[in-house]
Order: sequence, then C-alpha cells, then structure tokens
Amino acid sequence: MDNLPTQTLVPDGAGYETGAAILARGGLVAFPTETVYGLGADARNDRAVAGIFAAKDRPRFNPLIVHVADINTAQTYVEWSDLAQRLADAFWPGPLTMVLPRKPDTGLSALVTADLPTLAIRIPADPVAQALLRAFGGPVAAPSANPSGRISPTTATHVINGLAGRIDAVIDAGPCAVGVESTILGVSPDVQLLRVGGIATEDIEAVVGHALTLPETTETTDTHAAPLTSPGQMASHYAPNAKIRLNATDLRDGELLLGFGDVDCALNLSPTRDLTEAAARLFDYLHRLDAREITVIAVSPIPETGLGRAINDRLRRAAAPRPKATA
Ligand code: TXA
Ligand code: MG
Repeated sequence: MDNLPTQTLVPDGAGYETGAAILARGGLVAFPTETVYGLGADARNDRAVAGIFAAKDRPRFNPLIVHVADINTAQTYVEWSDLAQRLADAFWPGPLTMVLPRKPDTGLSALVTADLPTLAIRIPADPVAQALLRAFGGPVAAPSANPSGRISPTTATHVINGLAGRIDAVIDAGPCAVGVESTILGVSPDVQLLRVGGIATEDIEAVVGHALTLPETTETTDTHAAPLTSPGQMASHYAPNAKIRLNATDLRDGELLLGFGDVDCALNLSPTRDLTEAAARLFDYLHRLDAREITVIAVSPIPETGLGRAINDRLRRAAAPRPKATA
C-alpha cells in the first residue's frame, strides 16, 4: 500500500489532463483548493473512493465532500432550495460546503455519504481545482489530503510528507490562499453550522439573517469508534506530534511559541494581528514547528472573531487528548 510511485504534476494543460486521466481510471490525485489540498477520487467509483479511506486510514463512517465545477452540476446531486440558492449566490464558488438532502440514483458511490440521506457538496474557487474538475468532467470526492487525524495540508510538500507512496499524484500549485477548511452548513430545512471554516460565521449570519452556533464537539477521542451524529466533529483532530498549549502569555521550558501580534516568538501567524493572514499560515506553521521535534507548542491568544473562530477551533482540536487508534 505504501509503494505507489507518487507523481508531482504541474498545474498546466498537460498536468490537468494527466490528473483527469488518473481520476478516470480510479486513481487518487491530490489537488489544491483555496482552503487546503484535497485528496480526490471519482465519486462514482466505489473502488476509487475506498482508496481514499485506505490511503488516509480514515474511518468509513466519516463521509466525504463532493466537489463539482458549477451549480448546475451540484443540482443534479442534491435537492435544491431557495435557501441553498441564496447561500450559493453569496459564497460559491468558494470555501463553503453545503449539506443537502441527496437525490436518489445519482450514481455516486454509497461510500461517499457513509449511508447518510444527505450529501456534502462544494464548488471550489481555486483556478487549479476548477481546471482539474473541468478536465475530469465528473464529481470528485475529496477530503483533506492528510493522514486521518493529522494536520491538514496547505502545500504539496505537506501532502507528500503525509501520503507519498499511498496516492498516484499531487498537483503542486504552491500554498493555499485561505488555509483553513471550508465552512460546513447543514441547509435543510434551516441553516445549521456544522464546521466553522474559511468563510467567517458573521458573513453567513448576514445572509441568513440570524445568529448561528456550533453543535457540541463529540466527546469521544477514538476516531475509529461508533458513528457520530455530526460526523467528523471529533474532539481530537489536526494532531501534531508536539503537545499544544493554548492562550499562552508566557513561555515555559521546552516550549516554542507560535505567536500572534507583537510578541517574541519562533514563528508569527501575523505580527499585525491580521486573521486572514494567520489562517493562511496556521497549518504550515504547525507543520514546521512540529518538524523541530519539540515537546510543546505554545500559542498566543487569538480573537474569537472572523476567521479567528476557525483558527481557534483547529487549535482546540490540535490540543485535545489524542485518539487511541489514529495512524
Ligand atoms: O475545505 C474543505 O472542506 C476541504 C477541501 C479539500 O474541500 N475538505 C475537507 O474534507 O476538509 P474533510 O473530509 O477533511 O472534512 C469534511 C467534513 C468531515 O468532518 C465530514 O464528517 C463532514 O465534512 N461531512 C461530509 N459529509 C457530510 C454529511 N453528509 N453530513 C454532515 N457532515 C458531513
Ligand atoms: Mg480533514
């Protein structure tokens, strides 16, 4: 399983053709989106989708997001609504995933939805993701391209470090612009915030006209345990090897500081306290500090507004007690 020759593809016409051909024959292609790199497979091909779960060591009960190039294609897979249209008008293409009732007999692999009656669907804005989706011409199931439970990838190097030998190819188009995963909304019949992410909650609230709150994080830390009502919301996730200490205003022995604002630190998410910049750097800096093999990464306090909510959510999960059985 660990001996596939993983190719690095260039984001040009030939690269997209090669990537699309690999997807068409049931292979796995990692590709950039504006949020994080995704690990793509043909969402209609059971064997290909099973390959995603195997490459990531992802529990089968955790469903995948289907990526398509445009709204017309999205509407062939899910029951559309006025609310979905309003959200699509405001945020697609972009870092929003909508969970909608799935239509029957769409030809999608049952593994994609883990037998749920709903489907998570997204139209990414990143031009490389768009070009690959158009070259392939079909639905692409893609979770983040990291081993399950580990830090998400925002560069092709992160993907290679985590999954080389387990996937057929990665399209290398440099760092992702947003840097945290998409915001996930349940959209049926009302809006439910399922994951904070690349679109600030305040911006979604402005469109839907009321406040949104996140459901409780699932208490279990065993990512291979029984199905969850809100899949993927495991307390522990994004785990570096080092421990994480949040809201650090001092530095203790053996720690490196991941800073925010005007502080003395190993790496600074944003000296000017710009949350967009901090989100774009978050996973890369966690990968880099973790590579220094220290025991504790201390992190400066980060405001709970705008993209700060997604940053704090990922950091809290990175700091949570570790699962017993995650690869
Ligand atoms: O930005 C992103 O969303 C990236 C890029 C590659 O698109 N993808 C991503 O996928 O973060 P993943 O698999 O790492 O996270 C998707 C989350 C999981 O927590 C999963 O449980 C949830 O979406 N999900 C998928 N289908 C769902 C459904 N039908 N209902 C509720 N949650 C769902
Ligand atoms: Mg993920």
